[in-house]
Amino acid sequence: MSTAYENLIKIIKERRSIFPASYIKKEIPIEVINQILETANYAPTHKLTQPWRFVVIRKAGLARLGEELGRLYKALVTPQQFLQKKYDSFAEKTSQADCIIAINMQVSGKIPEWEELAAVSCAVQNMALTAESLKVGAYWSSPPLIDDLGEFLNLNANEKCIGLFYMGYHNEKPWEPNRTSIKEKVKWIEE
Ligand SMILES: Cc1cc2nc3c(=O)[nH]c(=O)nc-3n(C[C@H](O)[C@H](O)[C@H](O)COP(=O)(O)O)c2cc1C
Repeated sequence: MSTAYENLIKIIKERRSIFPASYIKKEIPIEVINQILETANYAPTHKLTQPWRFVVIRKAGLARLGEELGRLYKALVTPQQFLQKKYDSFAEKTSQADCIIAINMQVSGKIPEWEELAAVSCAVQNMALTAESLKVGAYWSSPPLIDDLGEFLNLNANEKCIGLFYMGYHNEKPWEPNRTSIKEKVKWIEE
């Protein structure tokens, strides 16, 4: 029987960002989406502000999100900067996903804003690991356009969208991530 460490390390190591082009046409049951969301709620949170807020986008909502991202892109770039391929990519990617969860941060004012962001990021990692354990592919997308999604997502004034968590089933095999050694990133103080 595997130990808790062995189970955990396998999921941590095998989690990869899986992009929409790899998603297959297979619906993620609501129960699975809820299992993924539920684990966000167990993230650490300073002063218990629990700043993670989510908007789940599925079915016809996906096409509406794709259209909105395209509309924002067109409105925010100059005609010289506009690229038809980029414009089309928003609707293409949203249509490839089965579900997209908008990741939002609620700013309480009780702690520095970076701590709210850190707590939401911990929540998203819980979701990513749970998705991996349930064989759901996912990735955190953060195009600059998310700054302008507040109206589409119906966010409150103290909420800010910090990403889109794309999800879909897929047939990718696990691969080794591209990382330099942890030894290069750690200093020890022992005396
Ligand atoms: C906060 C955050 C934002 C990200 N935004 C994007 C993004 O906009 N586009 C993208 O292709 N990947 C994005 N990623 C995913 C990274 O590309 C991915 O984590 C990286 O390539 C390492 O691959 P891995 O997740 O499979 O380990 C984001 C990841 C994080 C943590």
